[in-house]
Amino acid sequence: MKILVTGGTGYIGSHTVVELHNAGHEVVAIDNFDNSYPDVLDNIEKITGKKVVFQKVDIRDKKALTDFMLSQKGIDAVIHFAAFKAVGESVQNPLKYYENNVGGTVNLLYAMEAAGISQIAFSSSCTVYGEANPPVDESTAKPEAQSPYGNTKQICEEVLFDYTKASNLKVVSLRYFNPVGAHDSSLIGELPIGVPNNLVPFITQTAIGKREVLTVFGNDYPTIDGTCIRDYIHVVDLAKAHVKAIEFLEQKKYSEAYSVFNLGTGQGNSVLEVIQSFEKVSGEKVNYKIGPRRGGDVIQIYANCDKATNVLGWKTERDLDNCMQTAWAWEKHLAQK
Ligand code: NAD
Ligand code: UD1
Repeated sequence: MKILVTGGTGYIGSHTVVELHNAGHEVVAIDNFDNSYPDVLDNIEKITGKKVVFQKVDIRDKKALTDFMLSQKGIDAVIHFAAFKAVGESVQNPLKYYENNVGGTVNLLYAMEAAGISQIAFSSSCTVYGEANPPVDESTAKPEAQSPYGNTKQICEEVLFDYTKASNLKVVSLRYFNPVGAHDSSLIGELPIGVPNNLVPFITQTAIGKREVLTVFGNDYPTIDGTCIRDYIHVVDLAKAHVKAIEFLEQKKYSEAYSVFNLGTGQGNSVLEVIQSFEKVSGEKVNYKIGPRRGGDVIQIYANCDKATNVLGWKTERDLDNCMQTAWAWEKHLAQK
């Protein structure tokens, strides 16, 4: 298949471009480098031996996006990663998020229609479930979103669903749990800008000495050790799920025009378990302290991924230790640079 990847130089996008190449698909990637760098393209090439066909395009620019899509021949499907993802920033600047995440997705659908492309995999998030009783499956009710970022994911899912009813569009919405880790080569990984909000980059940056101390946000939750529980999924496992998802769209075995899949491991781990796993595989001590709860955190969430296993034929292959080991190798690689 020939696949257009938006946000192709980003964290999950770059790993997915690698896995698409590995599976023998042809890839065209676009990005505006808002949250990534051009050298990712060279690093993908080093991993796969294949040059990435790439164009700098901002999906907010409907004309440029449409012109680009029309210039490409034979695209079978789009994997749509391009979006902003900082929850806190979305609270401060909601319009920026609605413009890019929702407006950009609508532009993309117009451009796909103009170019006659009718299959898309969309990056959604487990944030749509809010505080729910885990394990959550795809039928779990979606409460009111906790942030503008979360709301953009809910709205995009609805936009896509509505549009399947008015067109021949086929959609898979992929609800990621907590993507972590990096490619085994340490050539691509997550590049948090400024102080990381997410746990794993904060752990690795503390261990390498970039941050003095990690604050564990609360140890008085009703969980095994009092800290919050999440479903940490290795980014390479996640990337492979996208290959399965677009192949599933192409096979058209399913009667639904709009399908949703949870992508997680099915296992929950506490913040302290993540730190312990990191310390075990790295041999480093993490300087951490217990602090107050962070506003907006859910107590615990992890996925029921039976649907992805049964329908897509996908399941995770890597465990938490491998997530930590590759995240640590990536941090050390960045430090050398
Ligand atoms: P990322 O920021 O690393 O990648 C997104 C890429 O999109 C970046 O390279 C950025 O430059 C690009 N981009 C943003 N706006 C653009 C625009 N207007 N035009 C062109 N390119 C644009 O983020 P990621 O972690 O790879 O996330 C990918 C997708 O997965 C996002 O939609 C995100 O919301 C979703 N998601 C991520 C997580 C996570 O924890 N990383 C969890 C759930 C869902
Ligand atoms: C967060 C976002 C979510 C988004 C996801 C991926 C919030 C409320 N949720 O998920 O919408 O989809 O990132 O980008 O922001 N923790 C610490 N100390 C830290 C950092 C985190 O203890 O310095 C804890 C958190 O309290 C949480 C766990 O680690 O229990 C994971 O946090 P994080 O990596 O930020 O992911 P989420 O909050 O699950």
